[in-house]
Amino acid sequence: MAAQSLDQVINLCKRRGFIFPGSEIYGGLQGTYDYGPLGVELKNNMKRLWWRYNVYERDDMEGIDTSILMNHYVWKYSGHEDTFVDPMVDCKTCQGRFRADKLDECKCLKDPKKKPGECGGELTEPRPFNMMFKTQVGPVADPESFAYLRPETAQGIFVNFSNVLVSTNRKLPFGVAQIGKSFRNEITPRNFIFRVREFEQMEIEYFVMPGTDEEIHETFIQAHIDWWVNYIGLKRENIRQYEVPAGELAHYSKRTVDLMYKYPIGWEEIEGIANRTDFDLGSHSKEQEKLGITAKVIENHHSTEKLTYFDHQTNKHIVPFVIEPSAGVDRGVLAALCEAYTEETLEKGDTRIVLKLKPALAPIKVAVLPLKKNEPRIVEKAKNIKKSLIAKGEMRAVYDDTAAIGKLYRRQDEVGTPFCVTVDFQTLEDDTVTIRDRDTMQQERIAIADLYSYVIDRI
Ligand code: GAP
Repeated sequence: MAAQSLDQVINLCKRRGFIFPGSEIYGGLQGTYDYGPLGVELKNNMKRLWWRYNVYERDDMEGIDTSILMNHYVWKYSGHEDTFVDPMVDCKTCQGRFRADKLDECKCLKDPKKKPGECGGELTEPRPFNMMFKTQVGPVADPESFAYLRPETAQGIFVNFSNVLVSTNRKLPFGVAQIGKSFRNEITPRNFIFRVREFEQMEIEYFVMPGTDEEIHETFIQAHIDWWVNYIGLKRENIRQYEVPAGELAHYSKRTVDLMYKYPIGWEEIEGIANRTDFDLGSHSKEQEKLGITAKVIENHHSTEKLTYFDHQTNKHIVPFVIEPSAGVDRGVLAALCEAYTEETLEKGDTRIVLKLKPALAPIKVAVLPLKKNEPRIVEKAKNIKKSLIAKGEMRAVYDDTAAIGKLYRRQDEVGTPFCVTVDFQTLEDDTVTIRDRDTMQQERIAIADLYSYVIDRI
């Protein structure tokens, strides 16, 4: 049986050290979560798989890692100061503030069984609320010394367009990929790590010749669905494409297709794939005006950097169009956990919780378990096997002797460890071990010398 509710996954995350509420000992901070010992491994594996697929396996992609704090004019000319808003209403009775377009997902502060307004409280008219966090930069508080925590990683790529182009000698089309933190002062963070105020994004800005944008957009939609299915293990039937209607498009977008995942809370966005046109490069550069290309916003503090591409065929500077796949790491982690969570009833009627994560995503790849923890030769052998696995390659392997073998298997099943290796008396005689498969619970005997390649082949 798969996860029926988000609570099952939340309980497992807390109990086994995947994810904890942020600042918990002080009563928490709404919309923040901390990744624990297993969560950080899972999240890092997801980011590595994304980087591998989108950067290493392609010949047209570069990586970058830009600052979270940026000059505040970036956000003026990107359009975020004016338009990065959600509609907000206040309840005049309980003083709660809610997202006007998500009232059915919100709870009345006085009576959480009711929706805002159902308690008889009068709601104000919706008004725009800007979601960027503002902070002071440096010790002097003057009107110019503020910055925003970035609400998307994308702008770090746009402002570095020329730097990357010149330093790498790239020709169109090419892309720049970035993984990093973003911050949004969500009016109502909710659903665990689904909607939070601090989260990570995996974004690509893929620069293309105007006119080729629509076709390339389509290829990214398909390629990214394939990644969620083949690398992360989401079932294809649990992913849908949602064509964002014209009235709901972000200010920069000509077309956006959201990939929706079937979470236990319903179909929700996991990734947005947008055609951002020439909006961002265009509006960051004053030069566009000279070139006869209408920049969307031109004012005093405009960047003087040329964010154009010289096309040798036409001998003209052009402003590339941009295709942007933008996925949430935290939403990806949540989807992977929901997809993998399984409760099985075993022959004797016991329930086994098993996380059927793709092995490449699993926090721990191998648990090495001694059959007898009071037999020093077995313990030493087991510890050496664990050491040699780590020495051979980048993988998290653990040694564990804190319980009886059956219990240790269950614990590893619950956190998604694909392989348990048991060291027993026979190991001392012939240098073989048993290796147990998490999903089938079948065991086979293999030589220690073959163990590393056995595991690597399967992850
Ligand atoms: N640069 C484009 C952009 O940021 P977006 O649709 O606003 O587009 C992209 O965000 C992705 O970031 C979403 O599909 C989602 O996975 C993730 N995301 C956005 N807001 C989030 C939040 N408050 N909490 C967790 N993830 C979020």
